[in-house]
Amino acid sequence: MSHPSHLFAPFAMRSVVLPNRIALSPMCQYSAVDGMVNDWHLVHLGSRAVGGAGLILTEATAVSPEGRLSPGDLGLWSDDHISGLERCVNFIHQQGAAAGIQLGHAGRKSSIAPPWEQTRVVPAAEGGWEEILAPSAFAFSERHAVPRSLSVSEIGRIQDDFRTATERAYRSGFDVIELHAAHGYLFHQFLSPLSNTRGDEYGGTFDNRVRMLLETVRLIRAVWPEHLPLIVRISATDWLEYDGHAHPEGLGWMMQDSLRLVPLLRDAGVDLVDVSSGGNVAQPAIPVGAGYQTAFSAQIREQTGVATGTVGMITSPQQADHAIRTGQADLVLLARELLRNPYWPIEAARQLKVEVPWPVQYVRAADGRKPARLPWALGPR
Ligand SMILES: Cc1cc2nc3c(=O)[nH]c(=O)nc-3n(C[C@H](O)[C@H](O)[C@H](O)COP(=O)(O)O)c2cc1C
Repeated sequence: MSHPSHLFAPFAMRSVVLPNRIALSPMCQYSAVDGMVNDWHLVHLGSRAVGGAGLILTEATAVSPEGRLSPGDLGLWSDDHISGLERCVNFIHQQGAAAGIQLGHAGRKSSIAPPWEQTRVVPAAEGGWEEILAPSAFAFSERHAVPRSLSVSEIGRIQDDFRTATERAYRSGFDVIELHAAHGYLFHQFLSPLSNTRGDEYGGTFDNRVRMLLETVRLIRAVWPEHLPLIVRISATDWLEYDGHAHPEGLGWMMQDSLRLVPLLRDAGVDLVDVSSGGNVAQPAIPVGAGYQTAFSAQIREQTGVATGTVGMITSPQQADHAIRTGQADLVLLARELLRNPYWPIEAARQLKVEVPWPVQYVRAADGRKPARLPWALGPR
């Protein structure tokens, strides 16, 4: 019997070997101007790399200006964006972590104010954009704008934006691309029949609703080098199938749809599916609690054989280690817990009694590889 894996076992995707199974989950920082990286992004991403996460994923980075969720999102729609991202990538690599970029388009959710303000559409006069685009003309909520339905040629243009952004991501030095097809972003809007009522080849049947995503994955794979991995983040379900109520508009995207989609993604060249949920329906009843999405990851991994990442309310080292050891996921993504503690991986290693290398700056010369006795590391080992 092969050794069961654990949180600090390396993980290979194509030629990229992550030093452990811990990833910084993508998190919008609402801090960019014109999509450009600044010191905040370097410190936000860099400190989690110093803290020992094996894969650092950027926030959803827009492939076009109008694909941003908020005017403060990162972008990769021009060559001018490359040098700032490259600086982050270089720093992440110096810490021994892999660097991934989440590419996205927010579709009908775009042009929104940052969350520290009330949810509201940012008008063009304040840096928002004139037109919001989506598969069909339904607003996400009454606080969002009603989008205009995309023409087929506009869909092609967005797919081309993803291809070009992929080439720029490669030039920036990234090891991994994660395509954001979850949380009610544009791809999810195409997947779910609640937001896609198109009558053409991009709407209606399952095959038509997944077409936009699959075509884009193939375009990306054609320009993203063979030796580098591609991840797709999906929402396993819109959650309406679980809340026990009859929904006249239907139940949206469901787990059975995800189980059909994932093998198609694999066949198109996707190496790992990052399994999240929700985000395309404004007020679903979601039983949020510790590891509440991990069962989705486990089911997808078990039934499709495709590698998965699990995310959502994972906070303790034992919980994260358990998810890997029991085969529920290959990768654990942490968002808010890594905001609370950028050094969570180092602390997790201590609790799980695993030796991991610390940044060399924290190692006393006389101790060789032993960590320095920094004040917060003085507890029993
Ligand atoms: C401030 C913030 C920004 C986020 N931005 C993104 C994003 O850009 N892309 C994405 O896929 N998820 C985003 N998320 C969701 C997280 O990646 C993660 O899926 C979610 O927070 C659940 O994980 P957690 O319980 O560890 O926080 C964001 C979450 C937070 C807290």
